[in-house]
Amino acid sequence: MLRGETLAALGLVTALAFGCGETIDDSTPIVVGEPDMMPEPDAAELPEPDMAPDAMVDAMIDAAVEPAEMPYTATLNLPESPYNYAAPDLPQHYMVETLGFRAQRAAILDDNTPADNPTTDHGATLGRVLFYDANLSANRTVACASCHKSEYGFSDERVFSVGFDGGQTERHSMGLTNARFYRNGRFFWDQRAETLEEQALMPFQDPIEMGMTLDGLVARVRAGDYYPALFEAAFGDPEITADRVGKAIAQFVRSMVSYTSRYDVGRAMVDDRSQPFPNFTDDENQGKFLFVMPPPLGGFGCFFCHEGEAFIGIEATNDGLDAVSEDPGYGEVTGLPQHDALFKVPSLRNIELRAPYMHDGRFGTLEEVIDHYSDGIQPHPNLGLPFGVRDGQVIAQLNMTPNEKRQLLAFLRTLTDKRMTDDPKFATPFVAAGD
Ligand code: HEC
Ligand code: HEC
Repeated sequence: MLRGETLAALGLVTALAFGCGETIDDSTPIVVGEPDMMPEPDAAELPEPDMAPDAMVDAMIDAAVEPAEMPYTATLNLPESPYNYAAPDLPQHYMVETLGFRAQRAAILDDNTPADNPTTDHGATLGRVLFYDANLSANRTVACASCHKSEYGFSDERVFSVGFDGGQTERHSMGLTNARFYRNGRFFWDQRAETLEEQALMPFQDPIEMGMTLDGLVARVRAGDYYPALFEAAFGDPEITADRVGKAIAQFVRSMVSYTSRYDVGRAMVDDRSQPFPNFTDDENQGKFLFVMPPPLGGFGCFFCHEGEAFIGIEATNDGLDAVSEDPGYGEVTGLPQHDALFKVPSLRNIELRAPYMHDGRFGTLEEVIDHYSDGIQPHPNLGLPFGVRDGQVIAQLNMTPNEKRQLLAFLRTLTDKRMTDDPKFATPFVAAGD
């Protein structure tokens, strides 16, 4: 039997044997798997003799469904004073719009941090622990970080990720870099989560990913002896609720901002990003030109959808993967035909690290992605600008030369930010046994 099942069974047995016993007293010695050796209940714990039978049954049902959790512990390596998550030293180009041109839009204008959940150092620290804690899946094998690995740009190198019970996710995992700057604040490829706070509780409850219920999650977090102090630091008191779990994780994910790539170093050396960056090779500068210029000016218009300094979309769109999409994307959420096959536009920061690409992981390399944009755009009726469909045909493919493809690729690689992905503040805080 799995450990979790044993514990649940124990809870059930205890509840039934004890009648109205709400939870097991911490000090009660517990012998797993040997119900007949359990201590005799105190007279005080037996049901009130005058309790109405219905109320007694209710109390028994409540006690039986109340998830029983065995206390657990872990060794955490957290700094004495927390890392800085709340106030990253964002460069000028993130903060100030240099030209009234969308391509240079300052990322901060699209910040989706809600007023009731500002990122704090202690809040994001708690979020970090929750994010890396495999105790929080049904059989304690999978954490958020199992499918969002820092070395792969917080995504997964597998096409489809593997959940707690060996099942596969239906879509490819998403990189989390710069999620803070998706203006409409919706999450997932199909934008089904309205906020990041809401999103953060969904993987726990996903039957493939982590296999918990919300009540089960709260009970599990409460049983971890390192959590009350972390909740107290983050929220002012040690109370553990699902709402707080979601808020803390959202703070941690929002703190994953990339601003120390080679792109950022170069960008800080010029007034606007159409100028050549002194730290770039000629190929990288040429690739940047192709990325940020619209087709009529000799570029490819990638910035139409991967916008501004965060290189992220402002809404879901279609980039011509299929003329008829198997996956309805945002269309499934709204039921509207004009939303069929629209997908969230992820930030391209750290893109080099997170192959395979697209919602279904269909492209194994960036070269394949670039080939798609060069001449593989399919005439989906909802295809976004600068592409267009006329009489069922794509109006114009970009038809890149081999040289242009190479330059575009060189530019995309300047968005890699190892300083960020290797930053200990985003790494696991758990010390493995034996370390
Ligand atoms: C078993 C693998 C798996 C686990 C575990 C997992 N995720 Fe994910 N995550 C995915 C997949 C796959 C997607 C894309 C799903 C979709 O869009 O339908 C995703 C999408 C996301 C997104 C959306 C990003 C965006 O830009 O819209 C966020 C945020 C996220 N996950 C955070 C988390 C958090 C927080 C946890 C833990 C509570 C977690 N994930 C656990 C696989 C996983
Ligand atoms: C019409 C809007 C649009 C334009 C223009 C556009 N993209 Fe995209 N891009 C998207 C969308 C939407 C996705 C996600 C599609 C999906 O997975 O279904 C995406 C995904 C990507 C991905 C994969 C991201 C990931 O996390 O897997 C890369 C890389 C990419 N685009 C690069 C480019 C480049 C380079 C250009 C310019 C040649 C470009 N894009 C132009 C909308 C666009």
